Amino acid sequence: MNNTKQKKRILTGDRPTGPLHLGHFIGTLKNRVRLQSEYDCYFIIADLHTLTTSPSKDNIKKLDQNIKDLILDYLSVGIDPKKSVIYRQSLVPEVVYLSLLFSMLTTVARCQRVPSLKEVMHDLHIKKPSLGLLTYPVLQAADILMVKGDLVPVGKDQESHIELTREIAKTFNRLYGEVFPIPKALIGEGGILPGTDGQSKMSKSIGNCIYLSDDAFTVEKKVMSMYTDPNRIKATDPGKVEGNPVFVYLDAFGKDKEKIKDYKDRYQKGTVGDVEVKKYLISVLDSFLSPIRKKRAIYEKNPALIEKILKEGTKKARLEAKKVLNEALLAMGLDPSFPSLG
Ligand code: TRP
Repeated sequence: MNNTKQKKRILTGDRPTGPLHLGHFIGTLKNRVRLQSEYDCYFIIADLHTLTTSPSKDNIKKLDQNIKDLILDYLSVGIDPKKSVIYRQSLVPEVVYLSLLFSMLTTVARCQRVPSLKEVMHDLHIKKPSLGLLTYPVLQAADILMVKGDLVPVGKDQESHIELTREIAKTFNRLYGEVFPIPKALIGEGGILPGTDGQSKMSKSIGNCIYLSDDAFTVEKKVMSMYTDPNRIKATDPGKVEGNPVFVYLDAFGKDKEKIKDYKDRYQKGTVGDVEVKKYLISVLDSFLSPIRKKRAIYEKNPALIEKILKEGTKKARLEAKKVLNEALLAMGLDPSFPSLG
């Protein structure tokens, strides 16, 4: 039998709200793929979290399709279902129980201080957040600790949620005994990828994203109309490279660092035009996205396989969740012998 020592665990995931984009790749997917052999990986599709801002039936109707698309995104970037567990949050109801227990260890004021709450309220024009939105990061803490995640590869915007998770784990362990690891966030290198419009981040609601599932023609169109340096009128004007999304993308996805440096030098001197640099970026993104598109095309033809991956992943995650909830309840002195949910 396998006598190697237990691998550390990764738990991370996404809300099934639409296709993943280049920002997701830089923020978290790249780390997931890189670490999937080294760690025992769990990837949660957090459908309950989508209800925190859109509890409508219309949203719920879209979840099944969004989940399939999300799994296609995962597989096409190289997440290997033989190594990693992909599962649906709402089919692991134990997580809701753990989340409730954690909500007893977290003050309202602490949740109100989580910066993403204000951002989401601002971005989505929400004046009065629901209790569910307020406790979003508590549910996320339950996601992570439900499988005893040690490492959480996420984008920078999620850092404050992992901080709260650490606090909850510490409080639980102090009150009831050592049950949970204190998870660490792993933030993608290179910071947050700006949108094609030069805004600070790619966001579906702004419509400034390049998706991993975009075809070559769409990428070309998006790049050609990208924001660059607004002060540069002619190709002979010296241009700005820092914060210019064209160069940020080249740094993030280009392999030929010398060529990129040469373009940057010439751009700053005003000896290369926007169009030439953009054409180069198109070729760089095409080399990056081509293998992803090929993989997607293979999996797209096999919807039964996608379903099987999700079903088996959910079964595995649930077994793990039951075990950990049992352990948490025992540590608290509660009776864990209630009939299993579902
Ligand atoms: N909040 C995350 C996001 O919006 C998604 C998520 C839900 C998650 N549960 C998680 C991420 C647990 C990491 C760990 O991107």
